[in-house]
Amino acid sequence: MSKAISPGPDRPLTVLGIESSCDDTAAAIVRDLPGQMPQILSSVVAGQAELHAAFGGVVPEIAARAHAEKLDFAVEQALIDAGCTLSDLDAIAVTAGPGLIGGVLSGVMCAKGLAAATGLPIIGVNHLAGHALTPRLTDGLEFPYLMLLVSGGHCQFLRVEGPLSFRRLGGTIDDAPGEAFDKAARLLGLGQPGGPAIEAEALQGDATRFAFPRPLLDRPGCDLSFSGLKTALMRARDQHVDGGVITSQDRADLAAGFQAAVADVLVEKSRRALAESGEINGFAVAGGVAANALLRSGLEALCQSTGIRFLAPPLALCTDNAAMIAWAGMERFRFGETDDMALSARPRWPLDTSQPAMLGHGKKGAKA
Ligand code: KG4
Ligand code: ZN
Repeated sequence: MSKAISPGPDRPLTVLGIESSCDDTAAAIVRDLPGQMPQILSSVVAGQAELHAAFGGVVPEIAARAHAEKLDFAVEQALIDAGCTLSDLDAIAVTAGPGLIGGVLSGVMCAKGLAAATGLPIIGVNHLAGHALTPRLTDGLEFPYLMLLVSGGHCQFLRVEGPLSFRRLGGTIDDAPGEAFDKAARLLGLGQPGGPAIEAEALQGDATRFAFPRPLLDRPGCDLSFSGLKTALMRARDQHVDGGVITSQDRADLAAGFQAAVADVLVEKSRRALAESGEINGFAVAGGVAANALLRSGLEALCQSTGIRFLAPPLALCTDNAAMIAWAGMERFRFGETDDMALSARPRWPLDTSQPAMLGHGKKGAKA
């Protein structure tokens, strides 16, 4: 990491972002003009769901190959959509981790190639910082604030204190909530991604019929656990399967009970994280699970009752995208930092290095 001459706050900046840490190949261009809200000039996201559908999860080698094939096109499309050429750019930001290493490497190599050809600075971005800094891109939220990141691969509470300063208040000790929704959907014979499938099914269900546990609520702190809930769901399902057939009412009640347990735990732990986070300017949520209406309304109600501003960026910026990477790169660049050709791809890269590392690998990559 090298210290660059910081582009002062008065200088307009245009940054290309590249994201390839999981199963979305993304490129975007963000422009920041002094005294104005930043503009997302383009944001291209090419998903790979159909490539992995038959395997029940993301296959790292297939993902890496697809990223390597699609990245150039994604960058080209992002430039065309933005009406820019490479000469309009001030820097290239790229996800350098955490994530599936083959995919991250594809992105880093693409960014290095572009940097070598253009002479532009390269900025390695932590994917989680991309999510965590998004409320500043969308709403200009001032530091410090609390962020709940809930996706298929991640679950953590972060006190965001500066572009490079994050304090982790807690996180999952096993599955991420999206991963839990996906596994629950498989147990109930529903399609993938599991979150929306469970949510739709739960609309017809009675959330009070099955008494699902609320894991770790009996313990202090902000850590969470979701793998026991999945086992509880399997047990409840097996008690109601009659000759291999589960009735549609049983399925809907199981889905509703499961969803309510996940949402309850996240809302209650958010209450604790808010209590622990000191003075903050807002509470923001990001990640695919933030699309869940029951969770959103629970978090909104919590913030209303505690008088804290609640922010949920539009879904396209909650899920994986490259605009958040361009923005996080811009924040690092303005802070006076860039990388060079020695930038390496990191499968693990915790944001808060003062905390013990989380263990294990999720379906969508290393937990950080
Ligand atoms: O952030 P994301 O798009 O991708 C990564 O994890 O990288 O999150 C995807 C996850 C999936 O596990 C999906 O089941 C979950 O978000 N999800 C939902 C909903 N929509 C997507 N979970 C609960 N309710 C939803 N409506
Ligand atoms: Zn993500």
